[in-house]
Amino acid sequence: MLKTTLLAAAAALALGASFSGAGTAVAAEEPHVTDYSFSFEGPFGRFDQAQLQRGLQIYTEVCSACHGLKFLPYRELAEEGGPALPEDQMRAYAAQHTVTDAETGEDRPATPSDHFQHSPDAVAPDLTLMAKARAGFHGPIGLGFNQLLHGIGGPEYIASLLHGFTGETKEEAGVTLYENHVFPGGWISMPPPLSDDQVTYADGTPATVEQMAQDVAAFLMWTAEPKMMARKEAGLTAVLFLAGLTVLLWFTNKKIWAPHKGAHSAGDKRA
Ligand code: HEC
Repeated sequence: MLKTTLLAAAAALALGASFSGAGTAVAAEEPHVTDYSFSFEGPFGRFDQAQLQRGLQIYTEVCSACHGLKFLPYRELAEEGGPALPEDQMRAYAAQHTVTDAETGEDRPATPSDHFQHSPDAVAPDLTLMAKARAGFHGPIGLGFNQLLHGIGGPEYIASLLHGFTGETKEEAGVTLYENHVFPGGWISMPPPLSDDQVTYADGTPATVEQMAQDVAAFLMWTAEPKMMARKEAGLTAVLFLAGLTVLLWFTNKKIWAPHKGAHSAGDKRA
């Protein structure tokens, strides 16, 4: 009797697990998220420095009106593997912003160790980690294999969201909502932030909504994981090192056992 109950319980658990797994898989196949291929995807992927600089420009000129990047210190902008602004430009960028000094309580120009602002609009979420918070492509059954092929899905979600607006609006409890096919629920309280030629890119890239959306999405992937390049390089070094070690150990093994392996082995011939 106990055995049957236990078996039934195990079966129920297994079923439950597979159903919740299926749920994630369906969510991951969100039809409106476009699978962009970003330069930083895959084991050899790298951030495109020019794209990160364009993304920083979009954040600064457009998104920063409402959104903060409170976990990001200004000095990161000069780091290798990121937008890699020259040191003086990074300092000048920081100095354009005002922070309230924690000790004196007075406003002063920001220094490289200060962080970007908190969101000035209380309803707009902080964007530093958004690219990871909205990661997708979790399938199949939530194992994340799709992420190997398509990237983690967060920057894809952000880029898709930014041009998922249909142009329809509605009022709800005094708040204007904008129809957006990518936002869960279909209506978002963020007005469409981008329009063609809204900014002028210093490198001459045409500022289409598509382009700006991808640039700022790539930039937000970097803010969420500024050390991604270093991590990938360390991973690659480790794999190469282990591959080299495997070859050496294989030859060592052959050499050690050669005298004991019959007349054909190299050891015997030499003797
Ligand atoms: C006029 C203010 C405003 C501007 C400008 C703005 N946003 Fe938003 N944003 C909001 C608000 C408000 C929300 C919260 C929307 C909601 O939850 O309905 C939001 C939400 C978001 C979200 C989260 C969506 C989610 O899944 O929860 C992302 C990502 C985002 N904005 C990105 C951007 C980017 C990138 C830019 C610049 C290109 C930008 N926003 C410009 C007001 C703004």
